[in-house]
Amino acid sequence: MRSALEYLNYRLRAKTRHGVHSPFVYRIVEEVIQGTGAARTSDIEKLRTELRNSTESLTIDDRGAGMRRGGRKSVRKISEIARRSATPAPQAAFLQRLVSHLGSECVLELGTNLGLTTAYLAAAPHAPRTLSIEAAPELAKCAADHLARLGLKAEIVVGTFEEKLPALLNGGFVPDFAYIDGNHRKDPTLRYFDLLAQCMDAEGVVVIGDIYWSAEMREAWQAVKEDPRVNVTADLYYFGIAFFRKGQAREHFTLKHP
Ligand SMILES: C[S@@+](CC[C@H](N)C(=O)[O-])C[C@H]1O[C@@H](n2cnc3c(N)ncnc32)[C@H](O)[C@@H]1O
Repeated sequence: MRSALEYLNYRLRAKTRHGVHSPFVYRIVEEVIQGTGAARTSDIEKLRTELRNSTESLTIDDRGAGMRRGGRKSVRKISEIARRSATPAPQAAFLQRLVSHLGSECVLELGTNLGLTTAYLAAAPHAPRTLSIEAAPELAKCAADHLARLGLKAEIVVGTFEEKLPALLNGGFVPDFAYIDGNHRKDPTLRYFDLLAQCMDAEGVVVIGDIYWSAEMREAWQAVKEDPRVNVTADLYYFGIAFFRKGQAREHFTLKHP
């Protein structure tokens, strides 16, 4: 679990734009981190509020995603899922601004859940192709309904990351932006990252959620920073961002998130 000490340590290391000399990263700080708002926020947040107040439950079959110990099926309140699993609004809006800033055309999310962050990604004004993978069919269906209700276009692929990610990449789907937001354990995270790194070009970016969630996730993030294919990283505490940019000095930034 994230600790207060860990957060304090991050805040002490984190730089504002004044401490950043790379023009590429400086622009991200100025336009994305310090930027505000995102397209369709009020509609998506209205849906989030509705889900957080929902009295309904879902019977979830995780299809081997390993989300729970014991049996595969569990009954979970939608309100609890919306409160506990969805990326918070300011962070989801940040991801949309990053996708817009980079002009990413092919966006992949690992872990759809109720589709709230999928909606933010798909709502980027330049309308990138957006695809999201989710193991639990009941969640995938809810997410598809939510996206349809919002009038947003995104493809939800039902299945495990282990099965669907290689199939998509081998089938010619090459994302230039990927958000890993499920199965937050070291080895699986590094496997997903490796598959993405093998196919992404120099413009590609991988965002990893919850890099301080556990000792395993901290180790995974450290391994990503040391990966020779990565040459710029940004630690924003809630996310770690890895860029594959060529011809740029290898540098690791810890950036202050307002
Ligand atoms: C933290 S939630 C994702 C939240 C979502 N990105 C958002 O911000 O609204 C993680 C999701 O990943 C799914 N998941 C976990 N492990 C998985 C796996 N191995 N394959 C596919 N889906 C998985 C879970 O069912 C869960 O819905």
